[in-house]
Amino acid sequence: MTKPTLIDLPKICDPRGNLSFIESEGHVPFEVKRCYWIYDVPGGMFRGGHAFREQDELIVALSGSFDVVLNDGSGEQRFHMARSYYGLYVPRMTWRAIDNFSTNSVALVMSSTEYDANDYIEDFNEFIRLKNE
Ligand code: TYD
Repeated sequence: MTKPTLIDLPKICDPRGNLSFIESEGHVPFEVKRCYWIYDVPGGMFRGGHAFREQDELIVALSGSFDVVLNDGSGEQRFHMARSYYGLYVPRMTWRAIDNFSTNSVALVMSSTEYDANDYIEDFNEFIRLKNE
C-alpha cells in the first residue's frame, strides 16, 4: 500500500456500547512496533508538520475528532477523522500535520518503527527535494 488510505476496522455494535479492534496482521498493512497517542490538545493547536523517511503509520480518532492533513509532494489532502471504527494509513515519505482537534479528542498512532529522531524530516523544502530525487 503506497497511498494514504482509510481502513475500515471491525465494529461490534452492542446496546452496552460498541467495540472495535485492530490486529497487527489483519488490519494494519505493517507490523506494529509502537503505539502512541496525542491528547489534552489545547484549542487551536496543531501537531506534526513533518514527514518520516521509514515510518508507516495508522491514525485512529479514539475519541472526538481532528483533521489529518497530508501532502505526498504533489498536493494536499485533508481527512476529517471523527469515528473510532476507521483508521488512516499514512505511508512513509508523506508530509503530515494534525489540526482542528475537538475538545477531549485522542489520536492513536500505530507505527511501523520504534521512535527515532533521525527518521523525521522537519523541513518541507527538504521533503520536496527528497521526493523529487
Ligand atoms: P513529535 O513526533 O514531534 O510530535 P508531533 O508530531 O505530534 O508534533 O514528538 C514530540 C516529542 O515527543 C518529541 O520530543 C519526541 C517525543 N516522542 C518520543 O519520545 N517518542 C515517541 O514515540 C514520539 C511519537 C515522540
